[in-house]
Amino acid sequence: MFLQLIVITFVLTNANALNKIVTFPFSITSRLDSASFYRYKNQSFCFTTFTDTANSKNDSSDQNELAIAQDASFLSYSAEFLSIIGSNPDLKLIQEQPASAETQFAHEGGAYIPETNEVWFTANQLPKQNTNIYSINLKTNQITQLNIQPPIITPNGVNYFKGYVYVCSQGNTTTPAAIYAVNPTTHSSRIVVNSWFGYRLNSPNDVTFTTKVLGKKFMWFTDPQIAFMQKFSGVPQYRSTVFRYDMMTSELRPVITDIIIPNGIAFNQEENVLYVTDTSPDTDTAIVYAYDVNKDGLPINRRVFSVSSIGLPDGIRVDRNDRVWIAEGDGINVRDRTGALLGVILSHGLSLAGVISNFALTKNTVVILAQETVWRLDLPVDVL
Ligand SMILES: *[C@@H]1O[C@H](CO)[C@@H](O)[C@H](O)[C@H]1NC(C)=O
Ligand SMILES: *[C@@H]1O[C@H](CO)[C@@H](O)[C@H](O)[C@H]1NC(C)=O
Ligand SMILES: *[C@@H]1O[C@H](CO)[C@@H](O)[C@H](O)[C@H]1NC(C)=O
Repeated sequence: MFLQLIVITFVLTNANALNKIVTFPFSITSRLDSASFYRYKNQSFCFTTFTDTANSKNDSSDQNELAIAQDASFLSYSAEFLSIIGSNPDLKLIQEQPASAETQFAHEGGAYIPETNEVWFTANQLPKQNTNIYSINLKTNQITQLNIQPPIITPNGVNYFKGYVYVCSQGNTTTPAAIYAVNPTTHSSRIVVNSWFGYRLNSPNDVTFTTKVLGKKFMWFTDPQIAFMQKFSGVPQYRSTVFRYDMMTSELRPVITDIIIPNGIAFNQEENVLYVTDTSPDTDTAIVYAYDVNKDGLPINRRVFSVSSIGLPDGIRVDRNDRVWIAEGDGINVRDRTGALLGVILSHGLSLAGVISNFALTKNTVVILAQETVWRLDLPVDVL
């Protein structure tokens, strides 16, 4: 994840409102029944400001409809979203740490480990560098800080592949950034990749795997210049890049070099569409790009898959129906494979910082990493 551009401070929602669902017709996103309205860029859609007070007396006005959603946790635009979350969603707080804690403990990762029935996640390295990696036992909801040896400095994205947990390490000025493979039961770690022809990696952020592309085992990861921008590593030696790593030959190849801050990365089920989120703070748009994969196993046909209406798109996961789940400024946005927004799990009641930067999807559970808090949402249907 990157800088928190959006800091919306709300008190954690009370239990009654916590599981509230509001359903909107899509038309409300493109036509408001108001003479005058304005939305600040730091406000999520429901907090759009209306300046014609006459309308507020009308219960069915868009102004009132939006206000009703301000304490909801779910915003639905489709029957499909309602079928995923169910009519009676049950968000459960697993753990909350004081906002004054030295680090935001639940920031990145969200990888499901089948061997141990755990989800692993990592802490924010701001304001303090750390090696904090945690597991949640999905049976007991117990959260444990792991003793990984050797330790992994400034960990970020985490993913699971064939018996190992892969952790992005953003490094620091002395220890080079790397991707580590960790044994999920012994917690011993080893470096998988830490250099491109002798240059240090920038700061690997998120990682994913394919087996169908060219029939090979590839590890794909984003390597943005975030550690340098956040002032905990040296001057980058090459631009922000998406790499493809051949796990058999060890060839590390830059495959995308024109995304400003490539961050989250995921493939569809067929592994012929690649998604990369751009968390560039310098642009006015927060874009998720989609690519096709060509016969040489390279990303082509870049296109805009989605644009976040608030904040930056960070963590991204694709479910078994190729729906794309993306952590954005207002929460987890769920879109279908064409990019149509189905609904949002809203963050403002779940996080003191107002931000969900990442999450995990398992068979029928969403584990939500909301900085100082970790939540779980058990779904009535399988999504993986
Ligand atoms: C959002 O931005 C506006 C304009 O800059 C500011 O007045 C307002 O206080 C901000 N709201 C929040 C919740 O940060
Ligand atoms: C209230 O708002 C609805 C929806 O915009 C509109 O159809 C209706 O005419 C309004 N009623 C009054 C009394 O303004
Ligand atoms: C970088 O991280 C290592 C641990 O991997 C630590 O020993 C070292 O002190 C850190 N360097 C700086 C400059 O913080």
